[in-house]
Amino acid sequence: MDKFVITGGNALQGEIPTNGSKNSALPALAAALLTDEPVTLHRIPKVRDIRTMQRLLIDIGSQVEVDGETVRLHTPRIVSPEAPYELVKTMRASSLVLGPLVARSGRARVSLPGGCAIGARPINLHIFGLEQLGARINQAYGYIEAEAPGGLRGATVQFERITVTGTEDLLMAAVLAKGETVLHNAAREPEVVDLADLLIAMGARIEGAGTSTITIQGVEKLRGAEHTIIPDRIEAGTFLIAGAITGGDVTVTRCEPAHLEALVSKLQQSGVVVTQPDACTLRAKSGGLHSVDMTTEEFPGFATDLQAQYMALMTQAEGIAIIVETIFENRFMHAQELARMGANIRLEGRQAIVAGKRDLTGAGVIASDLRASASLVLAALVAKGETVIDRVYHIDRGYEKIETKLAQAGAQIRRVE
Ligand code: EPU
Repeated sequence: MDKFVITGGNALQGEIPTNGSKNSALPALAAALLTDEPVTLHRIPKVRDIRTMQRLLIDIGSQVEVDGETVRLHTPRIVSPEAPYELVKTMRASSLVLGPLVARSGRARVSLPGGCAIGARPINLHIFGLEQLGARINQAYGYIEAEAPGGLRGATVQFERITVTGTEDLLMAAVLAKGETVLHNAAREPEVVDLADLLIAMGARIEGAGTSTITIQGVEKLRGAEHTIIPDRIEAGTFLIAGAITGGDVTVTRCEPAHLEALVSKLQQSGVVVTQPDACTLRAKSGGLHSVDMTTEEFPGFATDLQAQYMALMTQAEGIAIIVETIFENRFMHAQELARMGANIRLEGRQAIVAGKRDLTGAGVIASDLRASASLVLAALVAKGETVIDRVYHIDRGYEKIETKLAQAGAQIRRVE
């Protein structure tokens, strides 16, 4: 298993480019199942979760051609409408094939995801939504079996709580359903809007993506399309925090500033000078940091996927920051590891109380999930001495060459096998 060895103390300087969004690319790849024509997607990041999704699609019957950041998918027919446990257990987003498979072939068999390091993460809302659209659902032997032999039919779906991939799954199911579907309390994340844009390019009729109510008029057939994935806002945000935490001056290029407003606002309140040199660039120049409280929320609020990184930043800020995690019930695994490096963090239920500013020291730490690993990398960049981060396969799930990008900005980081 690979490890990162990081020696802290260098202020990061210079440009770091953003890749395409992992969480946008995953549903876009699944959406290619909805048509028998080729779909070409640009700016697909080279991360492990994307490779897992491609493997899944190949098993289902897609031909997948990868050429740099471009992926061409062609699914003349569905060979096996199934997402096996072996893949779902490594990537929960595999459940994104549920909606498209039922819509295209009237049948899907998807393993139920088990527990997860950040919370229970059930998919009951995906299932509820599909039932509203007329799918018959049967649960047995650890699998969900969904059937709609006569096709899905449009319906009103009121989500009990906001779910990102649940909204995406239902969107993909509804585009081929008969009649009108209205999704209430839908997720407003940019990744949902990006998926809707791709589906519209494929011939779907969708209105309201990016708001809480999405209306879909089902069509009989979708065609092939070409689409470019949006920039990864979580990756970009992680690099802005890397600049801020090291007292550096980092320019993040190829990003979408409109997707980063909640983070930029917190950075500015805490003393970081953030400017926007052009339409797709943000620059974070650090002054003295002071603590600012933060609560995670659905978009356009502060992303839970940046909470761990923000916590690392607050260990270096003067004062006390209260961080409240409202999306996932167990997303504070990084706190214990940060504490091993010298951070002063008290956990009280869904609240973390971070007392800064503490001098961190290098230590052996373990990455527990994707974003927790990113926070440990950030902490290591300012820690005295050497930090060894174990299980970096978590970080490889969602960050493309993070060590190369950070090293180019002056970080002392290397991967050891
Ligand atoms: N939830 C349910 N039932 C459901 C679905 C969700 O109770 O059927 C609950 C979840 O347990 C959670 C909350 O609703 O407490 C929100 O979960 P959501 O469904 O929105 O999360 P997700 O769609 O599984 C996506 C991202 C996550 C990101 C969350 C929240 C992808 C592939 N994953 O997950 O990304 O944290 O939205 O923004 O888009 C990551 O990239 O590190 C990551 C975990």
